[in-house]
Amino acid sequence: MRIRIFDSSQEAGTYVSALAEEVVLSRSQPVLGLATGSTPVPFYDALVNLWMCGLDLSKVVTINLDEYIGISSEHPQSYHHFMREHLFDRVDFESGNIYLPHGDAPDLDAECRRYDDVIARHPIDFQILGIGTNGHIGFNEPDDLLLARTHIVELRPETVASNARFFDDPREVPRRAITMGVQAILQAEQIVLMAFGFEKAAIVARAVLGSVRTDVPASILQLHRKVTVVLDRQAAADLLGQHPELRLSLS
Ligand code: F6R
Repeated sequence: MRIRIFDSSQEAGTYVSALAEEVVLSRSQPVLGLATGSTPVPFYDALVNLWMCGLDLSKVVTINLDEYIGISSEHPQSYHHFMREHLFDRVDFESGNIYLPHGDAPDLDAECRRYDDVIARHPIDFQILGIGTNGHIGFNEPDDLLLARTHIVELRPETVASNARFFDDPREVPRRAITMGVQAILQAEQIVLMAFGFEKAAIVARAVLGSVRTDVPASILQLHRKVTVVLDRQAAADLLGQHPELRLSLS
């Protein structure tokens, strides 16, 4: 794993956008795997800036990790809405090249199979991930086992509590979601896991330095060949505490 630690999430986002640009320029049809939540926002801002500076994104295919079940894709807190607001409405992606799972599909099992088919047809070149404070990636929650394929998940209470910050009424926070499985994530050619803030410090250290365990889903990334962990100093605090030599390469 490559670890890069920045003074601010903005600097981190700019770095990740440069990694994404390399991928975009080296493929005829680049496939970016995208995440929602607060973490990727600085990356999306930086990517929009690159686009305004001349980077052509019109051939890019995007595949999102997950979506809530129980709210429509028009709901202001849906991940469809989030992606339109933070990225899709700001650059020139082709609408036919944008894929998100539909949490409001009438047949959710069929929707999971449809999404696996989308992923199979568009192998992911560059996968962006955030991490939950419980170690989830996508909505692959800590459990006795991790599912390979796209599936319906019951969100853990800590995930529901954490997501409540985006909703006016906490009773509205969805309890279920549809998420890409760990197979699709691990099959990505390159993965960038981002984390910012002190509240992520403990789980980042467990995911990066601890054993590979299904109750810390992000630890499975240790098995992947090309992962970059992009942190701010707060999220890196426990890593640096356990590996002071990392500090030297940062000064
Ligand atoms: C969202 C997703 C989640 C988030 C994670 C961190 O698409 O897949 O795994 O990345 O919950 O969320 P934030 O960035 O809001 O701390």
